[in-house]
Amino acid sequence: MRKARLAILASGRGSNAVALIKAAQQENFPAEVVLVLSDNRNAPVLDKARSLGVKAIWLDPGPKCTFLIPEVEKRWVEVLREHNVDYVLLAGFMRVIKKTLLDAFAGRILNIHPALLPSFKGLDAQRQAWEYGVKYSGATVHFVDDSLDSGPIILQEPVKVEDDDTPESLAARILEAEHRIYPEAVRLLAQGRLRIERRRVRILKEKHGG
Ligand code: GRF
Repeated sequence: MRKARLAILASGRGSNAVALIKAAQQENFPAEVVLVLSDNRNAPVLDKARSLGVKAIWLDPGPKCTFLIPEVEKRWVEVLREHNVDYVLLAGFMRVIKKTLLDAFAGRILNIHPALLPSFKGLDAQRQAWEYGVKYSGATVHFVDDSLDSGPIILQEPVKVEDDDTPESLAARILEAEHRIYPEAVRLLAQGRLRIERRRVRILKEKHGG
């Protein structure tokens, strides 16, 4: 069977990108990472991806800091299409996705968020959760829609907040959960096992045999 072709959009450190690339390099994984795109020339993710044998390029993000203007987003879509990308995975991509990219990859863009959505959307979610005093936070993989951190939820993993946690120690355990559930969500996606029913994502059973 043809493997699904994945692109990762990332702005920084790239630990989720590395987890996804390594998972996809395992035998029997139903998808391959064909491209990493960054809006940040100096993002460590670029070299990390290259060292794992994945093409990684910086693309001009244009004049705005928090999103790509339509003409720029159009250029990003062209690059994704040139690489025959099926799915786009946001992994620490520090920009809101707008209409041009959303329309081009409708229902085919995923994001990872370091909290149990819908709690603690936006930046610094691990610290938000710690400051609020929740007993559990965690990680969420979700489809991307036109609002921030709001699309249908695919997988979540809870992480217990310990009394002696700092925002940093909590974030480190949440990151481990992220590295487990993001590849798993992508595997389900590439196997065609996710069905979106309104806000709910149903996970279909694995088909065995021919
Ligand atoms: C992760 O915590 C992710 O949930 C959030 O941004 C961070 C990116 O980390 N969206 P990394 O670049 O994948 O290491």
